[in-house]
Amino acid sequence: MSLNHRPIDVAVLGCGTVGSEVVRLVQASAADLRSRVGAPLALVGVAVKDVTAPLALAGLDPALLTEDAVGLARRADVVVELIGGIEPARSAILAAFESGASVVTANKALLASHGPELYGAAERAGVDLYFEASVGGAIPILRPIRESLAGDTITRILGIVNGTTNYVLDRMTGEGLELDDAVRQAQELGYAEADPTADVEGFDAASKAAILASLAFHTRISADDVYREGISGVSRADVAAASATGHVIKLLAIVERRADGVIARVHPALVPLEHPLASVRGAFNAIYVEAEAAGELMFYGRGAGGRPTASAVVGDLVTVARHKVSATLGPGESTYLSLPALPVTAALTRFQIRLVVKDQPGVLAAVSRVIADEGVSIEAVRQTPGSHGAGLADLTVVTHRAAEGALAKTVAAVAGLDVVAEVAGVLRVEGD
Ligand code: HSE
Repeated sequence: MSLNHRPIDVAVLGCGTVGSEVVRLVQASAADLRSRVGAPLALVGVAVKDVTAPLALAGLDPALLTEDAVGLARRADVVVELIGGIEPARSAILAAFESGASVVTANKALLASHGPELYGAAERAGVDLYFEASVGGAIPILRPIRESLAGDTITRILGIVNGTTNYVLDRMTGEGLELDDAVRQAQELGYAEADPTADVEGFDAASKAAILASLAFHTRISADDVYREGISGVSRADVAAASATGHVIKLLAIVERRADGVIARVHPALVPLEHPLASVRGAFNAIYVEAEAAGELMFYGRGAGGRPTASAVVGDLVTVARHKVSATLGPGESTYLSLPALPVTAALTRFQIRLVVKDQPGVLAAVSRVIADEGVSIEAVRQTPGSHGAGLADLTVVTHRAAEGALAKTVAAVAGLDVVAEVAGVLRVEGD
């Protein structure tokens, strides 16, 4: 490969945890990257919010700093957007495309809400839009879906795509902590943000589910199409009950293709201990892909953090820079299937319903009858002596697959029985 190509001008927008690691990696590996790209990568600027604020990056030439992200985006061949959020990231990316730059971004919220606009602008400009780091941090998952599995048919993806919530659930499982205490511990260790809402309530995972579903099913799925339930309703008692039946609770992003459309959802679920996703501990991520010819594949690694995420960003940077050198492009948006997004009520799921019941004859028969009356079939029932006082027992019912829509009716019918003192918890069971 000739190394006589002119330098590829690179602008980095945002110099936080990930941006500073990207700059560090690009500078530290300059000679290797030059050989891999076929041209030197020339850093032409780094956009920050406040040029007078201290940087996490020693040795960066202050002359490279600017607060004008949009202006900088117009002066590069490749723009690496790591500002996050919608604006000014969106305007800067659109400005980059208008001036003929390719874009690498880790911005899942922007892609999940404005994906078609960005793809359209990239296509009109004849440039690349790459975003491997937006899902699963360092884990190569989008390129495998878009390229390696392009000859196969993906039927379902189950993902642990949020490290914060996986860490929190892991602490609840391992140490018997309540959710709030586990979140506090995650904040102290720097896993959770000061405002953990985006992670805890599943918004972050829903954006990632939308990106996965769009790529896997060649269909436009936005974050609004994703059913979302976070982990704030998961209690220590739920975790203990899951352990007792050989499960762990995970926040799953599940996207599935059916003949009539795509269902995308994010919610906590019981995962059997023998499923590979059950062993994903701490803040790690994993994406479990089911495809017709390939069978099951699991992609595992660090889903967050400066250096791991920078690995994926710089990988994309090398790819799009190579494309600039060879005047070619990677795959653009693929929406030829255009499947409808189906509501979560169309999903078929197993449920675990935990009840506190009166410990007297006929209770089991009464509970079974109302569940059967709703057309839901029971897989297993487990009764343990009550931890809620004399004369009460804990009853756990696991159903066979049933329509989500039938669940609410079933739970309401069970809750209405005289012999049921309390519906203590309802959780989906996945991964079988
Ligand atoms: N906040 C995310 C997580 C990382 O906890 O996994 C960035 O997507």
